[in-house]
Amino acid sequence: MSLLKTFIDHFTRRDRAALGGGPEAIKKQVAQGKLLARDRIKAILDPGSFHEYDLFVEHKCSDFGMEKKQLPGDGVITGTGTILGHPVAIFAQDFTVAGGSLGLAHARKITKIMDHAMKLGIPLIGINDSGGARIQEGVNSLAGYGEIFFRNTMASGVIPQISIVLGPCAGGAVYSPALTDFVFVVDKISKMFITGPEVIKTVLGEEISMEDLGGARVQSEISGNAHFYAKSEAECFEQVKRLVTFIPWNNRKKADSFPPRFPKAGFDIGAIIPAKASQPYDVRDVIRAICDDSDFMEIQALWAANMTIGFARLEGHTVGIVANQPLVLAGVLDVDSSDKAARFIRFCDAFNIPLVTFVDLPGYLPGVDQEHAGVIRHGAKILYAYSEATVPKITVILRKAYGGGYIAMCSRHLGADFVFAWPTAEIAVMGPEGAANIIFKGEIAAAKDPEALRKQKVQEYAEKFASPYVAAANGHVDAVIAPQETRDFLVHAIEVSVEKNEHRPAKKHGVPPF
Ligand code: HXC
Repeated sequence: MSLLKTFIDHFTRRDRAALGGGPEAIKKQVAQGKLLARDRIKAILDPGSFHEYDLFVEHKCSDFGMEKKQLPGDGVITGTGTILGHPVAIFAQDFTVAGGSLGLAHARKITKIMDHAMKLGIPLIGINDSGGARIQEGVNSLAGYGEIFFRNTMASGVIPQISIVLGPCAGGAVYSPALTDFVFVVDKISKMFITGPEVIKTVLGEEISMEDLGGARVQSEISGNAHFYAKSEAECFEQVKRLVTFIPWNNRKKADSFPPRFPKAGFDIGAIIPAKASQPYDVRDVIRAICDDSDFMEIQALWAANMTIGFARLEGHTVGIVANQPLVLAGVLDVDSSDKAARFIRFCDAFNIPLVTFVDLPGYLPGVDQEHAGVIRHGAKILYAYSEATVPKITVILRKAYGGGYIAMCSRHLGADFVFAWPTAEIAVMGPEGAANIIFKGEIAAAKDPEALRKQKVQEYAEKFASPYVAAANGHVDAVIAPQETRDFLVHAIEVSVEKNEHRPAKKHGVPPF
């Protein structure tokens, strides 16, 4: 073959493979409002930075007519590129090719790019759009999933792993995203479930649509499986690009520092907390009043909203924020909010991101439902995660810090490096009303005017404990600070902690209350 013919042949093969499942399948994909796999990758990465590998990989299956089927790229596109100049490894399942189903060759392409990501110490981004295990390949496709899950687990805490679900993610396939750090979903497009509507109808006789079973809103609001919800693929890709600015490229690095920015004007930090301790307020106003450019990237905003978590910067340094949200259930700890915070704390600890905790909660949520749902086991996760974390840990008690909630929210006793409290802080075993009712029960009952005595005892208890000064007198709080001083104290604490080096006892691993 002449040199010219060789090159023409090469480009013809490449263009044919890049066409994926062909015009009909592409038309179907576009008609569903979905982008094509390669276009998705290009929309996330820096322009011109995507380099594709394994385009010519072929499957070896010869059962059920598969020997006649050519599946370009075996239904998945893999490669490397950059985001804001930083390298990432990426794969995107191509639904136009056999429904993006996962056969052995498809899986091997994914595991190869995962191995690259691990060796190179760069984040892995996976775009899921697949009918699941390729039915014709039987156990070989199950083997492929297993090899992916194994690598997801090995990579956990070493490189950040991001999953974007942009189509079906059915059956055991959901466990790869579930093992990764952040899951992004898009309204009407993402569908995640273990058993689909047909199986549910057959086994349980119940009818449910895919959307109601495992659509984007369900996964963002009810199950908590998704961390970021977007209205469109374009919005989702902007979220991904924003997220990676806050996190480091691997666990040996720190997140990039940005030029320091003051919070935006318009937050009167001294006026956010209402005069009455029982009144709610939005803790995100406190966060935005303190962080650089008032830029707070909230995670799992729609699920377990009594706990607010996310990334922000202080004087250019990324911090992980964990805050009780008094707007929802008074900011209590419960099964879901404990899970939500604990996992985030572990992510920050694994990736050298200092933790800033804002405390305002009446304690753990009482009730039969919570007890039976395992609030003991789940609530223990947050204690474990904070105690285990060795990144700088800074706590600000804004208002209520009662009972187990006080201890759990990164108290000094769980290893906080710095604990600050606003003058409005109330640190006690429980609120003054409940406390006085219990410890002065007899006296109140025997009094001539029980109500007057009860009020007096509530007042006495409040004066003694519903303040930060007893805790400060005992060294449990390092400084009582005015709200306006908070940013300064936090920035200073972060900057003096830059070289923090704390170790835990050597062990194979702990046994957290998973
Ligand atoms: C082989 C598959 C496939 C699969 C889809 N296709 N899923 N091929 N194995 N799992 C093929 C279809 O045959 C079709 O091929 C093309 O992909 C497009 O599929 P459609 O059904 O036409 O698309 P759509 O109507 O959009 O429906 C999408 C879907 C549906 C809801 C995902 O395809 C579906 O229900 N698929 C099966 C889902 C499933 O049960 N998967 C197995 C889960 S168990 P042609 O040639 O006609 O274009 C599992 C175990 C993993 O994954 C365990 C790991 C631990």
